[in-house]
Amino acid sequence: MQIGALHLKSNLFLSPLAGYTNLPFRLTLREIGGLDLATTDLVNARSLLERNPKALKLIETCPADRPLAVQLFGSVPEEMRDAAAYLASIGVASVDINMGCPVRKVCRVGGGSAMMTELDKTARLVRGMVQAVKIPVTAKMRLGWDDQNLTAPDLARVLEDAGAAAIFVHGRTREQGFGGSVNLAGIRAVVRAVKHIPVIGNGDVTTPQAAQMMFAETGCAGVSMGRGAFYNPWIFLHTAHYLRGDGLLPEPEFEERLRVMRRHLALMVEVFGEEHGCRMFRKIGPWYAKRFGPASEFNKRIVKLSSIAQFEETLEHFCTWRRQFLDEAGRLKPNYRPPPLEASFMREPAVADRQEIPVPKGPVEVW
Ligand SMILES: Cc1cc2nc3c(=O)[nH]c(=O)nc-3n(C[C@H](O)[C@H](O)[C@H](O)COP(=O)(O)O)c2cc1C
Repeated sequence: MQIGALHLKSNLFLSPLAGYTNLPFRLTLREIGGLDLATTDLVNARSLLERNPKALKLIETCPADRPLAVQLFGSVPEEMRDAAAYLASIGVASVDINMGCPVRKVCRVGGGSAMMTELDKTARLVRGMVQAVKIPVTAKMRLGWDDQNLTAPDLARVLEDAGAAAIFVHGRTREQGFGGSVNLAGIRAVVRAVKHIPVIGNGDVTTPQAAQMMFAETGCAGVSMGRGAFYNPWIFLHTAHYLRGDGLLPEPEFEERLRVMRRHLALMVEVFGEEHGCRMFRKIGPWYAKRFGPASEFNKRIVKLSSIAQFEETLEHFCTWRRQFLDEAGRLKPNYRPPPLEASFMREPAVADRQEIPVPKGPVEVW
């Protein structure tokens, strides 16, 4: 697919996950395959212009990490423009603008989803960036502030006129946070609102079938995945395979999960050093463990990780402990297998609703 002048080999994208979508994670995913344009975490435009070491670390990349998008946030047009120009000058493939982050720190300065409420101002900011660079400028947004203010279609239209090359839309409102179901009709409304530019759908895609459903129900040109890639770094490869009509590949075996997790940690250590890389991995390991079956012994130790040697000891201990849950063939016994992943929008509506309603205190059986 095409985003502005950028020709991409895949219509599957990595969504920015602050604290996670760093160089080691992107390389881990790229080595598995199925992904082309990947993005950094969100980066403060002003910090980038000040060459703040933390901001520069966020955009750290290497030749194997191409094509790369950097996500910027900020509300000062000149800063956003100059940051985009700087990124273009160092070979970044595209610049994405964060318009959907519900975090107070981001909204307070007029960035993130606050942008969605001020269309004219936002259009001017985007136009300034587009005029300053030859690379595509894209925007990532939510459906709107809340259910009464589904502004994404209007915003997408305005951004297209301002020269944005693509829209990424997370099918939830700011008010929803990360709860409730992804609204595919809301994404479809954004697809219909723009004339030419691609709209990339996002939210809760954790399986190839969910990606296919998002394409089919919304008419989007691409699908972007965040948390799904953390549970399952094979998701891009498997989804591309499935969308080509080549069937569903089996979930990776435990040994393959260990191999990829080990590689991820090795890259973390390469990029951040052993001590800091291991410390950061304390919150990454448990994501892998979500698909291990029983993993309390792993999780208990990984949160104290401080060296590669300790990681290997943890794995050795965990693999021994885990044997009690295996059958003679070395596979998890059926009652210990993690349940299949399921996107919120693929659940039966009645089940999804039931899950949203808190169970009241009291004699439930007579109510
Ligand atoms: C830990 C975490 C960090 C995130 N950081 C960012 C971010 O930096 N920029 C952004 O636009 N969205 C961010 N998001 C939102 C995701 O990009 C994505 O829109 C959302 O998680 C829904 O997609 P998913 O279900 O595929 O994860 C973040 C989400 C999570 C869970």
